[in-house]
Amino acid sequence: MRKPLIAGNWKLNMTIAQSLELVNTLKSQLSEINNVDIVVAPVFTSLNCVAEFLKGSNIAVSAQNCYPENKGAFTGEVSPDIIKDVGCRYSIVGHSERRQLFRESDIFINKKVRSLLAKELITILCVGETLAEREMNEMYNVIERQVTFGLHGVSPSDMRNVVVAYEPVWAIGTGKTASKKQAEEVHAFIRRTLTDKFNDEIANETRIIYGGSVKPDNIDELMDQPNIDGTLVGGASLNSADFCRIVNFQRI
Ligand code: PGA
Repeated sequence: MRKPLIAGNWKLNMTIAQSLELVNTLKSQLSEINNVDIVVAPVFTSLNCVAEFLKGSNIAVSAQNCYPENKGAFTGEVSPDIIKDVGCRYSIVGHSERRQLFRESDIFINKKVRSLLAKELITILCVGETLAEREMNEMYNVIERQVTFGLHGVSPSDMRNVVVAYEPVWAIGTGKTASKKQAEEVHAFIRRTLTDKFNDEIANETRIIYGGSVKPDNIDELMDQPNIDGTLVGGASLNSADFCRIVNFQRI
């Protein structure tokens, strides 16, 4: 069965010292957990020291983004090779903040996905509709497009390194979580999309995680849904007690 995955997306927060303080607490508080994959995604400049600190532990490190080319004249960018070199096993791509603030397209995100998979990095592909798209009944079209384009050209065998994160844009950082029913409906839809694109086996094996105002008080009901395999946590991942409680979710 699919192993739950709980990932903390720290976004643009925390210095090296603050990052190390947080992972120091997480490492000791979460050392007994072996039934959940735990991931933290610090800013680029903290990746190396956090990865060194967590080496040999049960917490893996993720980048929050990457550029699809591995080297060359791309000022200010960081590549899959570099991310791997500093000790990351994962990268997030296609986060709605990147899609909206930096105008990243599905085609560009797909290049990143393929480039990460070529280096055997586990790729967390984020998808999700805006409030306007939901209200115009465009939600399923948008998500189908983001999943299908995002995974264009990805081989069935590379799907073992893909995680899809459903993050409704209206729920990110707003305190408005999708209800467990709303989230489950979209997760089930994403799984059907994976069946159509690949097959039942791949759809059943791929982890689909939820993100958007995940907190200690809503994690249990979210994780109780059959198609929710984990969460991508923003704000609450910056607080060690909250993140530990989320990792220690209880299925109701
Ligand atoms: P949030 O962020 O938990 O602060 O809503 C989630 C995310 O953007 O990944």
